[in-house]
Amino acid sequence: MEVIAAMRDRISVRAYLDKPVTRETLEQVLEAARWAPSGTNTQPWQVLAVTGVLKQRISAGILSHVAGGGPPSAHYDYYPHKFVEPYKGRRWRCGMQLYGALGINIDDKAARQKAMLNNFDFFGAPLGLFFFIDRAMARGSWVDMGMFLQNVMLAARGHGLETCPQFALAMYPRIVAEHVAAPENHDLVCGMSIGYGDPDAPVNRYRTERMAVQEFLTWAE
Ligand SMILES: Cc1cc2nc3c(=O)[nH]c(=O)nc-3n(C[C@H](O)[C@H](O)[C@H](O)COP(=O)(O)O)c2cc1C
Repeated sequence: MEVIAAMRDRISVRAYLDKPVTRETLEQVLEAARWAPSGTNTQPWQVLAVTGVLKQRISAGILSHVAGGGPPSAHYDYYPHKFVEPYKGRRWRCGMQLYGALGINIDDKAARQKAMLNNFDFFGAPLGLFFFIDRAMARGSWVDMGMFLQNVMLAARGHGLETCPQFALAMYPRIVAEHVAAPENHDLVCGMSIGYGDPDAPVNRYRTERMAVQEFLTWAE
């Protein structure tokens, strides 16, 4: 797939077909993604791939923790404690579009919560990824991680796969660590669902908006 086409074509997919992703395919995706740049070529990423019964156990573990009112234990704040404009409005529109596609009324808190819980089931994807970064590194390495994550998502498109990056999957690192040997002294940056998207699922049919280039580009000549 041509690179610009892959960038425009990648979306967050939240419903997947029951079709496995082979170990070989994932390794080909990561083989391409590993060429992401990083400051002084430090390559600060570690990836944990979960599938099958183990993935189910992690899902069940998080879901029961959440159902029991267990608190999140994320290693970092992804979002500010208080959103200001223009981010507040964009976030609201993003939610409206998502819930609209799912046929959920924005005032229906229970339905919204139920939809949110699908995050922990990896939206039905056969494969889940967890991305870790060494705590010995500084903020700059998080920039590198972002580039690596985008490379993974674009390389996935090149193999006919869809993805959804998920902070939700980084909210309960202690539960994840109860089931798998997570790398020591690392922060869990985010999770990712990966698989073959369900083209018929309404949730996969909407597209998010973007600012026009003129809104974020300043020429200084
Ligand atoms: C680091 C990161 C974390 C995200 N976390 C979640 C998440 O937990 N659940 C979810 O449904 N979407 C999540 N998203 C997807 C965003 O909502 C999505 O990227 C945004 O609305 C733009 O839509 P698009 O990806 O379809 O272009 C996340 C995206 C990023 C980059």
